[in-house]
Amino acid sequence: MASSAYGIDLGTCNIKIYEKGDQDVFCQKNIIAIENKDYLFAYGDDAFEMYEKAPANIHISYPLCNGVIADIKNMQILVKCFISDLCGGNVKPADYYIAVPTDVTEVEKRAFYDLIKNANVKAKKVMVVEKAIADGLGLDIDVKNSQGVLVVDVGYDTTEISILSLGGIVLSKLIKVGGQKFDDAIRNAVRKEYNLIIGGKTAEKVKISLAELEEKGEAAVVYGRDIVTGLPVEREIPTELVVDCLKEHFNTIIDNIKVILERTPPELAADIYRKGIYLTGGACQVSHLSQLLSNGTGLKVNVAEHPVESVAMGLAKIIKDDNYKSVAYSIAGMGNGGK
Ligand SMILES: Nc1ncnc2c1ncn2[C@@H]1O[C@H](COP(=O)(O)OP(=O)(O)OP(=O)(O)O)[C@@H](O)[C@H]1O
Ligand SMILES: [Mg+2]
Repeated sequence: MASSAYGIDLGTCNIKIYEKGDQDVFCQKNIIAIENKDYLFAYGDDAFEMYEKAPANIHISYPLCNGVIADIKNMQILVKCFISDLCGGNVKPADYYIAVPTDVTEVEKRAFYDLIKNANVKAKKVMVVEKAIADGLGLDIDVKNSQGVLVVDVGYDTTEISILSLGGIVLSKLIKVGGQKFDDAIRNAVRKEYNLIIGGKTAEKVKISLAELEEKGEAAVVYGRDIVTGLPVEREIPTELVVDCLKEHFNTIIDNIKVILERTPPELAADIYRKGIYLTGGACQVSHLSQLLSNGTGLKVNVAEHPVESVAMGLAKIIKDDNYKSVAYSIAGMGNGGK
C-alpha cells in the first residue's frame, strides 16, 4: 500500500522532514516571523533572513527551546506550512514518525505527539522514535542488533549523549550546550577583547569558517558596532581567540561523556571502546571538536558524513524498512486522552 508518511526531526534551529518516496531530506530554519502579533509574515529560511534585522512590529522567534517545544501555537503553524509546501498545498492523510529527545519529561515528550495530532496535517498515525535511535540508524548502525553504541549529537541548543543497545536506550543525557553556545562564546570573546559587538549570524559564520581560515592561516574578518564609539567597524579576529573561547564548552561535552561512560555497564563499555564514539548533529563539525573529544576520552571518534540530517535519515529508514518499525512506538492513549 503506497500510503504517505513523513519523518520529522524537530530541531531547535533546523526542522528536517523526510517524505516517503523522496531521495533528499527537506531542511529549513525552524523559525517564524509574526507581524503585529497575529499575521504570519514569513517562516523557515525566509524568516531567518530577517532575524536580527526586523522592525519592532515583526516578532521573529524559534518555537523550540533546549530541544523541547516552548511555543506550541507557532510550532503547529510551522509544521502545517512546511508539510503543505512539501505536498504542493494538497495535504493528504499520512503517517508521521517524530523524533523526540530521551532525557526530557513525559509531558514534554507527549507535546511532540500532540503537536502533530493538532497541527491540522491529517495525521493518521503518529509514532515516536527516540532521537538517538534515529541518529544511530542514520549513521548506518544496525541499532537493533548492535550492543554498546555511544552516540553524541551536538545540535543548536543541546547536546544529547546516549548509549544504545539492542534497539533501546540504556542511558541518555541532554545537556544545554550546542552551536548557539559556541556562537555566544565567540560574541563574548570579541566583545571583551575588541570592545566590539557582533551579531549571532556573524559569530556563526566565523564558527563555520574556522577550519578553512586556520588552514589558510587567515584571521576572521567581522563587522560589528564599536562599544566605545558606537560606530560600525570592521575588525580582524585571530582564529586562536575563537578556538580558545570554544574550549570551555567542548570540555563540558567531554565531562558529560565521561559521566555517562562511568555509569555504563562494563560489557557495553567494552563494545564502546572497540567502536568508539559516533559524533553527529550540525555543530559537531566545528573545528577541533572531534579531535578534542578523542583526546579527552581516549576513544576513536567517528564523525557523521551528513550530521545535520542523520536523525531524519534514520526516520527515513524506519519508514522504508519494516524491519526497523519496532523501534517506533505510539504514545496515543497515554496521559490526557490522546487517540
Ligand atoms: N559546517 C559547520 N560547522 C560548524 N557548525 C555548523 C556547521 N553547519 C551547521 N553548524 C551548526 O549546527 C547547528 C545546527 O545543527 P542541527 O541542525 O543539528 O541543530 P538542531 O537539530 O536544530 O538543534 P537541537 O538538536 O539542539 O534541537 C547550528 O548551531 C549551526 O551553526
Ligand atoms: Mg538536532
